Amino acid sequence: MATRRVAVIEGEDASPEAVRPTVELIDGLGLDIEWLYPPVGDRGQDLHGSIFPEEAKAVIDASDTTLFGATSGKSALALFYLRWGKATFANVRPAKWRPGFKSPLARPEGIDLVIVRENLEDMYLMVEGEVEELGPANLFSPILQKPVAEAGPGRFAVKVITREGTERAARFAFELARHRKDRGRPGRVTMAAKYNMLPRSDGFFKEVTDQVADDYPDVGYEAMIVDNFAHHLNVSPQSLDVVLLPNLYGDILSDAAAGLVGGLGLAPSGCYGRDYAYFESAHGTAPDIAGQNRINPTATILSAAMMLEYLDYPEEARRLETALAEVYAEGRCLTPDQGGRASTTDFTRAVAERL
Ligand code: IPM
Ligand code: MG
Repeated sequence: MATRRVAVIEGEDASPEAVRPTVELIDGLGLDIEWLYPPVGDRGQDLHGSIFPEEAKAVIDASDTTLFGATSGKSALALFYLRWGKATFANVRPAKWRPGFKSPLARPEGIDLVIVRENLEDMYLMVEGEVEELGPANLFSPILQKPVAEAGPGRFAVKVITREGTERAARFAFELARHRKDRGRPGRVTMAAKYNMLPRSDGFFKEVTDQVADDYPDVGYEAMIVDNFAHHLNVSPQSLDVVLLPNLYGDILSDAAAGLVGGLGLAPSGCYGRDYAYFESAHGTAPDIAGQNRINPTATILSAAMMLEYLDYPEEARRLETALAEVYAEGRCLTPDQGGRASTTDFTRAVAERL
């Protein structure tokens, strides 16, 4: 096997405190991985006069994948490049409860769902403006019964759903459901969007997904209006397997799903494209606990396990997950967000000892 080259972007605030021990942990597995550090953020600024210089891009392009921490600004351009530059269209966010995870639910047993969030379009094109700018487009609001430009002074944002964007995310979700079915899960895709109020945009997301579903007769399929889905996620998360969502709902509801299994500190993610993927925790930079060595690195470690799987180290990915699960099942060395008193370092050492 050729050497795998992994770009590491540590991110800001408390994020590097989760990324560094994770890299050490993976390093301890003795795999043929070379770690590359693209000059991003402050280091990019110091070395090349930009928070995301061409040099950083070149390192990412030369890598097989990227392990990304979290950003509160300085690594954001790198994140945008990893998403839109590398066309990583499917954001996979598993929410799986494991014994010892501090869920707020009385009975979290059996929660094992995966959100597939369309990662590149919807409200994320950052096209916003003044309502009056919409005049020339002559857009009529059936609700206001007049041109939307006459709604009054204010702002608008644009939501774009394309056939290609939806179809590739939907196919990814159905392939994943099929794969999980082979491993004993139900093998069902639940799609949710606001297709009643937004028949032409969210309705199109549903229409395209309905068509993709026809190609997967072996995979179950259901469509839910997103507010109903939010309720369903709360009251019967165990009934969900793979969930397909447009970008913004996926962003919001993946945090909600993380909360159900025990919090953002436990929520990994991977963003997959045709020829590149990168991995990042679903959480932010936790600025309130920066510098305290108490951030829970579980989300980053689980993201790294997804990365190992992607790099074709499935055995090691499983070992890492098992070691982590053991630490939680024992419950003696957990970080404060999980009700423990362990530092990030203590926790990571406990995982390393079980590897
Ligand atoms: C996420 C984050 C990002 C998003 C931010 C940092 C732009 O919330 O990855 O979930 O909205 O996608
Ligand atoms: Mg988010």
